[in-house]
Amino acid sequence: MDSMKEKLKKIFAEKFGSPPQLIIRSPGRINIIGEHTDYNNGFVLPAAIDKAAYFGVSLRDDNEMHLMAADLSEDFSIRISELKPVANINWPNYILGPVAQFQKKGITLKGFNAILMSDVPIGAGLSSSAAVECATTFAFNELLDIRLENIELVKMSQMAEHEYAGVKCGIMDQFACIMGKKDHVIKLDCHSLEYQYLPFKLEGYKILLLNTNVKHSLGSSQYNARLEECEQAVEWVKENVPDVQCLRDVSETMLDKYVFPKNKLIDKRGRFIIQEIQRLQKACEDLQKGDLNALGKKMYLTHEGLSNMYGVSCKELDYLVAAVKNNNAVLGARMMGGGFGGCTINLVKEDAIESITSGLQIRYESEMKLPLTYYVTTIENGTEII
Ligand code: GLA
Repeated sequence: MDSMKEKLKKIFAEKFGSPPQLIIRSPGRINIIGEHTDYNNGFVLPAAIDKAAYFGVSLRDDNEMHLMAADLSEDFSIRISELKPVANINWPNYILGPVAQFQKKGITLKGFNAILMSDVPIGAGLSSSAAVECATTFAFNELLDIRLENIELVKMSQMAEHEYAGVKCGIMDQFACIMGKKDHVIKLDCHSLEYQYLPFKLEGYKILLLNTNVKHSLGSSQYNARLEECEQAVEWVKENVPDVQCLRDVSETMLDKYVFPKNKLIDKRGRFIIQEIQRLQKACEDLQKGDLNALGKKMYLTHEGLSNMYGVSCKELDYLVAAVKNNNAVLGARMMGGGFGGCTINLVKEDAIESITSGLQIRYESEMKLPLTYYVTTIENGTEII
């Protein structure tokens, strides 16, 4: 963290003449279990991690925004009065989107200079975009002393993703990023937004992320398609059970009656979500009892469901989960995040990491024709000033 901060300060001073007024660290996230449940008003169990975006910013006297992505050596500038999503490059949108959210609230921002650096791998399912969106809302809330509550910053960052990145995401990523707490996972009820921090004690185990290096570019259109499939399931149930608002309110018996006869695929999508919400509840009990074995088994079941029922895995993700499934040193593994690429999350015995990764790298690279990268990650605090 300190070296990123020093590097950012130096680049900022070289580019803009003086160090930034404020530097924010804003983390990526993992999710232990509860995938694709957030936009169905279910529960999720995410946490903020050690990999983060770093955002240095200073106000200007005019209304120009001068941005730099230091890792890419790319610059971008625009007047605040001309704010709109950028079509040909992605990264500015994760800063412009949050700025637009302040404007929507009637809060006019002044021009600013900003530099972005990040060690959250892009397209790895670790929410590199939420990290930047949250860094931006958090920074301006501080810099202009706007005093919005954290939950408001979470919602603004989520809306930024909808409107400037075109992904109708749920609230999990931005919530985990801003609300994360060291060594704890967050049990979040995505309906009421009530949450609870559960200690995540790994005793002898580590969280290992295996990156397929398949960029989940297909992901955004397929993500929105899953959202619509879930809405369709709810609509068919609602025709018969008017109280139902979302899949959280639907039972498997309702699917049997009102969805299965109409469309088997929509039934499978909805059934996965209902099962996943229940599985998460049980997984939280496992965690509270300290039964990591039981939790791990549920992670494997989640993967099976995401792959066979929800249809958001890919052959590389399936390969990596299958490769560790019968290994006693691995308690659980599954694809994580939106899917179609990115990382698997694995709970692995600390002393087995080296042998697992080295063997797997060789096999994966020769069979999938892609490099395998990996990160041993830790759970850290959410977005903060450094
Ligand atoms: C992406 C979205 C989240 C969530 C996950 C799947 O990360 O941004 O809101 O839906 O996919 O659980």
